[in-house]
Amino acid sequence: MRTNWLGWFVAGCAIVLAFALLPTLTRSQSPHSNHALGDPWWKHAVIYEIYPRSFQDSDGDGIGDINGITSRLDYLKELGVDAIWITPVYPSPQVDFGYDISNYEAIDPQYGTLADFDHLVSEAKKRNIRIIMDWVPNHTSDQHPWFLESRSSHNNPKRDWYIWRDGTGPGQPPNNWQSWFGHSAWTYDEKTGQWYYHYFYVQQPDLNWRNPEVRKAMYGVLRFWLDRGVAGFRMDAVSRLFEDPNLHDDPILPGLNAFGDPNIEHKYTQDLPEVHDVLREVRELVDGYPDNPVLIGEADEPNIQDLVKMYGSNDDEEQLPMDFQLADVNKLSVPEFRRLLDEIEFNPALGQPYFFFSNHDQSRTWDRYGEGAHNDQIAKLMATILLTTHATPQLYYGEEIGMRTTTPTRIEDVKDPVGRTGWPKDKGRDGERTPMQWNSSHDAGFSTAEKTWLPIPPSADRYNVAVEQRDPDSILNFYKHVIALRRQLTALRSGAYVAVNRDDEDVLAYLREAGQDSPSVLVALNMTAEPRTVSFKLNGFGISANSLTVLLASPKQGKTELPLKEVQLDPFGVLIATVK
Ligand code: NOJ
Repeated sequence: MRTNWLGWFVAGCAIVLAFALLPTLTRSQSPHSNHALGDPWWKHAVIYEIYPRSFQDSDGDGIGDINGITSRLDYLKELGVDAIWITPVYPSPQVDFGYDISNYEAIDPQYGTLADFDHLVSEAKKRNIRIIMDWVPNHTSDQHPWFLESRSSHNNPKRDWYIWRDGTGPGQPPNNWQSWFGHSAWTYDEKTGQWYYHYFYVQQPDLNWRNPEVRKAMYGVLRFWLDRGVAGFRMDAVSRLFEDPNLHDDPILPGLNAFGDPNIEHKYTQDLPEVHDVLREVRELVDGYPDNPVLIGEADEPNIQDLVKMYGSNDDEEQLPMDFQLADVNKLSVPEFRRLLDEIEFNPALGQPYFFFSNHDQSRTWDRYGEGAHNDQIAKLMATILLTTHATPQLYYGEEIGMRTTTPTRIEDVKDPVGRTGWPKDKGRDGERTPMQWNSSHDAGFSTAEKTWLPIPPSADRYNVAVEQRDPDSILNFYKHVIALRRQLTALRSGAYVAVNRDDEDVLAYLREAGQDSPSVLVALNMTAEPRTVSFKLNGFGISANSLTVLLASPKQGKTELPLKEVQLDPFGVLIATVK
């Protein structure tokens, strides 16, 4: 295994230096200024995550499918989506709803066929929408033929494709490592008297990435889908590919987690340096294909320094590591958002930021940031952060209509095993995976089945696509409007980002600067439940006019021209304006 220590040392020094300099950086030093021409598509794309089980059912079985997605492409086009990330649709026992894969090169019959998939790719292409697949390299299903072979005997050729170890005594696992989904990460296998390792469920044994044949097979999977025309991959749990070969125990932390296990620092099972060797190999592979395939990393990193490493030392790893720091702010804190936006904007790798607030593992933005009384307005505010900074934005299906988290109220209704193991402290992820709400009819237009796989939330009558299409002030129309502005205005599409009014703790404000020929865009977001009046002094940013021109305000502003020295914002008010 190649480990370039000197490279890491230099990269480390660069990171430390860049963060030390952060507060002194000025707009002219912004690393992302106006590089629109010749940019790869993913820099300006709006990416939309689809949980296929819940998007659209085309055959009336209560489960969404690929033909369902195809039938909704026009909706996505109208919304302004450039690419769809589809969570796993491969054959799977569905213990982890597709993240336990038993064949990487086929489609699960409950979602359709390979022909349906090819049809989706070609119909999407007609609308200039790209398809991004989910690549799950860390683990397979325990029903994958590779694992069935591996567990069959000590000397099976695939034994070493997974992580098998002896216990430390009768009934004692090899060490204290814990599964992310609760309890020991080791499961004993009677037949061969050894334990296998699984970072996630018992049914998701980890592949051994130190075995070259595993790498070869998993890289073959990438080629299989690239050859079918996909535009890239969202890489699942990539930071967990390697574990300490010496099996050191993880440090125990105070307290118990939702599963009743001691809290633990997953020190020896994630972010090992070899992860970067794999990321470089994967990048080289996708770079061999036309049209800049993208690698989006589920880089669930604890801080910006670790996140930045995912770009590689020479733009040679992930193009778009997901920014979990921003996704997890979990409160409307202006200083916190400003700090994180600055950090990622000025990241020393010059990597393109990638933002999201909701996904299939995370409760939805509408109720996570909503304070009860202004949730619709706050949804618009969150949409504005997502769509008006420099980052590539990712939406999660339904967030554009203000879908909320609808958590099961009885353990017997829970589908996600996490919710059954963690009940009642952790009720699992069903709440953010409920069917898409298309209209007010039966099953909200998602299905014609008697019963859908997860129930239709009660909010579907009021919050659905059909209702919101008719309401000019709906969350849906707000998303459409901001996406359209992002597309039309050079400043929003590719302008440099710079925070303004940096001492204001209530209003988050920033400029997107387009350069000499186009106006800059000012974004102001009141993160409080009270009205606020803000004064902007923008002369230091090359702005000579004393007023701004409103492009979009929510709630609506009476006037289109406002004096920069006195801008009024309603509770949780949003303003997007041009300034010259
Ligand atoms: C992350 C995925 O987003 C999550 O849904 C899944 O359960 C785990 N990885 C395991 O694949």
